Amino acid sequence: MSSSSCFCFSNLFSCRRSRKHNSKIVDEANGVGNGPCIKKVFKVLAISGSLRNASCTHGLLRAAQKHAQNDPSLRMEIEIVSVDEMRSLPRLDPGLAVKNEKAGKGQNYYTYPAAVESFIKKVKAADCIIFSCPEYNYSITGVLKDALDWACIGPDNAWTGKAAAIMAVGGQDARGCRGTYHLRQIGVKLDLNIINKELFALHNPKSNEVIFDEKTGDLIDDQGSKNHPAAKINSRVKTILAALLQFAEKFPIDHSSD
Ligand SMILES: Cc1cc2nc3c(=O)[nH]c(=O)nc-3n(C[C@H](O)[C@H](O)[C@H](O)COP(=O)(O)O)c2cc1C
Repeated sequence: MSSSSCFCFSNLFSCRRSRKHNSKIVDEANGVGNGPCIKKVFKVLAISGSLRNASCTHGLLRAAQKHAQNDPSLRMEIEIVSVDEMRSLPRLDPGLAVKNEKAGKGQNYYTYPAAVESFIKKVKAADCIIFSCPEYNYSITGVLKDALDWACIGPDNAWTGKAAAIMAVGGQDARGCRGTYHLRQIGVKLDLNIINKELFALHNPKSNEVIFDEKTGDLIDDQGSKNHPAAKINSRVKTILAALLQFAEKFPIDHSSD
């Protein structure tokens, strides 16, 4: 176990951060080092680029949330930005960010439309991000681009330094990977630390095998069978969550100024 993944009593930075923000910690009580090993539970914000009610990229995020809830070793609490929340974000207009000239130190320098304020708050509170990204014309969707832009204008870039992972989905053979190149490129400017490796890329054909519920977008039940097509997807979702956890350990976020 690496020292960064395990808080022992000498790691005061992690300790203060955890207490101040009431973030959950898991006490493994396995006696590593000078005392019990206390592990941080990471707050993950899950964002899809689709506005479809029956979106499969949202369905994938719900599958990820379930895995995190059922597997304490993942040490993640996943909050999903809902389709409605994504819909409520206005088109990016920097003129809607109003400068508050009277703001004192530590106060908000800009005010935004309420939906944007709420979204930015969620991005700031997160330790890391998981994107579930449909490919639209070899790129990311407009709503995802707007969301990325909203949370970086003003004096603060809410994405700074956060670890992130991408689940790519496309209706063609390239499995959404052309869209993720654009997301990766934007991530460089936003100072996101995105896992380089394509750990999850899915060709979601309209016909062929049915993996997602047509009405809800949920990943269908794999009935506990390893050979079920949905079981393979579940396994890839778990893989990317485990990779994100490991990666996020390397990029701790100091929430003291949130
Ligand atoms: C306007 C539009 C453009 C699309 N362009 C591509 C594309 O370039 N490559 C691709 O693989 N799929 C493309 N697709 C298919 C979507 O990526 C695919 O259906 C995806 O599963 C949609 O995600 P959702 O179910 O979360 O809405 C496009 C779909 C739409 C609506």
